Amino acid sequence: MKKLNVGILGLGTVGGGTYDILVKNHDLIQQRTGVSIEVVKILDLRKRPGVDESLFTTDPDEVLNNPDVDLIVETLGGIQPASSFMVQAMKNGKHVVTANKAAVAATYVELQETAAANGVKFLFEASVGGGIPVLTAIQGNLSGNNFLEVMGIVNGTTNYILTKMTEDGADYAEVLKDAQAKGFAEADPTADVEGIDVANKLCILIALLFGQYIAPGEIPTTGISKITGEDITAAKAEGCKIKLIAHAKIEDGKVIASVGPERIPESHPLAGVSNEFNAVYITGDMVDEVMLYGKGAGALPTGSAIVGDIISVAKEVK
Ligand code: HSE
Repeated sequence: MKKLNVGILGLGTVGGGTYDILVKNHDLIQQRTGVSIEVVKILDLRKRPGVDESLFTTDPDEVLNNPDVDLIVETLGGIQPASSFMVQAMKNGKHVVTANKAAVAATYVELQETAAANGVKFLFEASVGGGIPVLTAIQGNLSGNNFLEVMGIVNGTTNYILTKMTEDGADYAEVLKDAQAKGFAEADPTADVEGIDVANKLCILIALLFGQYIAPGEIPTTGISKITGEDITAAKAEGCKIKLIAHAKIEDGKVIASVGPERIPESHPLAGVSNEFNAVYITGDMVDEVMLYGKGAGALPTGSAIVGDIISVAKEVK
């Protein structure tokens, strides 16, 4: 039986979800790929009940330099040391799969160049839109298009907050706590509510759709922390919903990008995207308009995207 050995950096919400899927669906994945995918090392300060204690280490080198590890799942979050760990792993000939949008967006060029220089895969489907296979679609079946525009609801926390404020008149601070409890929000939810997380994801979308790297800090960004019940009521009176939109389009051959609350007409497909759901609405010159929709946050939806990336590496195991 062919094998692919996985090391996980960070067994938090997303790393834990990934572990659970690899264990629960091990046999199904093995049937589909002909490869047995095993978790052989986990970097985390805390052990998790039910997970073999001998897998845990607190020394990153025991994963990154481990000759038994073929592929690293990076689910630590934050730019550093996550990005340096990914570079180190790739230089050691290991494939890397990550959900870490902050690290991918901040060090995109270095990570891509390191993967190419070392002949390894660097995959990050889970970094945008959680469980939605949007990056795979952009680079796969949609890649015969010139892309013209993208509008995305790509932050589950803020979409959850805006939905509850719109539908139930709920209080902003209360709903934010709820989103944190459900595991959608970042450790520091400022990144969610101020649009920084969305700017990271838009940076990644722009790189893949338009072949240009625009750093997240260069994208004009406004969050939802100043949106009031009155703003929502005023939008409703005009037949619109307020959504936090990652927006990029080509104008006169240039990419124009922004992140901010927009009034979306209720007739637009994005207006129907509620709670922690995400959607990415793409316009291509041939396909016209396509919307990909699904859960944008949470352990299992995001873990599903990571496992999808691991499987695409497993399919190439000789
Ligand atoms: N904090 C993020 C969100 C997690 O709410 O969408 C998924 O990237």
